[in-house]
Amino acid sequence: MTMFNNPLSRRSLLVGTAAGVAAVSTFTPTRFAIGQTAKIKIGLMLPYSGTYASLGNNITDAFKLRLAEVGGKLGGREVEFVQLDDESAPPKGKDNAAKLVTKDKVDILVGTVHSGVAMGMAAIAREENVLLVVPNAGAGDITGKMCAPNIFRTSFSNWQPGYACGPVMMKDGKKNVVTMTWNYPAGHEQIGGFKESYTAAGGKIVKEILLDFPKVEFQAYLTEIAALKPDAVFVFFSGDGAVKFIKDYAGAGLKGKIPLYATGFLTDGVLQAVGNDAEGIKNTLHYADSLDNPVNKKFVKAFEAATKRPVDVFAVQGYDTCSLLATGLEAVKGDIKAGATLYSTMRNTIVDSPRGKFTFSASHNPVQDFYVRQVKGGKDVVLGVAVKALADPAKGCSMV
Ligand code: BEZ
Repeated sequence: MTMFNNPLSRRSLLVGTAAGVAAVSTFTPTRFAIGQTAKIKIGLMLPYSGTYASLGNNITDAFKLRLAEVGGKLGGREVEFVQLDDESAPPKGKDNAAKLVTKDKVDILVGTVHSGVAMGMAAIAREENVLLVVPNAGAGDITGKMCAPNIFRTSFSNWQPGYACGPVMMKDGKKNVVTMTWNYPAGHEQIGGFKESYTAAGGKIVKEILLDFPKVEFQAYLTEIAALKPDAVFVFFSGDGAVKFIKDYAGAGLKGKIPLYATGFLTDGVLQAVGNDAEGIKNTLHYADSLDNPVNKKFVKAFEAATKRPVDVFAVQGYDTCSLLATGLEAVKGDIKAGATLYSTMRNTIVDSPRGKFTFSASHNPVQDFYVRQVKGGKDVVLGVAVKALADPAKGCSMV
């Protein structure tokens, strides 16, 4: 089966997105848009190399899968992609985004995974007034200080999954922890969200360990953790770095001795690679592949058939990015210049996602449920909902 052989009817899309239905029936396209047949150019700026390559590939493939499901068009226009490997390199973020907008003349920017790179993209989106949809990077500023009518995020803010885990650990009686992560905004903010709820509930942070991104020399720190003997360890790592961390944690003899907790990026997409070493890890995330809803069941089947790879949260976010664009552009009949109507349709869309339905906050960040999961038998099993409809505080956002 190819990735493009499962077109979903126009009716199915509209049924799934009630806000889109209202907008479709009332919008009058501008003169520019009437009869417009040119392809919509989308700049996919994502990591296709390095520790986050698998994340970038799953976002891309799931976006294209969803596009095929909605008939290969957005707002009646065919789509052309310009794909750029951002290498998860923050110093190149702004220049790469600017090149996509000014040289390649993309209509929409989609990206990226790494928070540092995404902040460069957000700066360009603001300067050039181009629509940006962020399908992963959780940097708080993107829907905080840098928020703008033309910037949307379909994933999470880094604060959200960290914040969801604090009460879970306190409920488990883990009264003191060592935290460990990469020294960049995603690491700081995920640990920051965790610390906020955990310490408010009486938990104590014994030590905070930071490594430069994307370093994976964990051994010395694991030896230190063994000596400190905390009740538990809480971490953020993802991609290839997560694989190495899980293996090293078990290799250092800590698995089964000092319980490991994390945001779900540690285990999502890596369980096949780490095997038994991940057993028992508890984590919080806005998705689990076992979620029992029809959208998820269809998505899991279609993605796995198309790619021969298991789904993960990154694929879901790519899929939902396309769904959001499909609804928005349908409402304005493909007129990408119809800013206010396009953005208000997107803002009011209820995305019928594999993760469950979610809405957008005034700052354009998802308001969504966070699940508690635990790796059992090689799968992230859902134990319950950690926090329902969790909204990011959107600190510094002028739209809130
Ligand atoms: C980030 O840089 O925001 C990020 C990267 C991978 C997983 C989650 C967040």
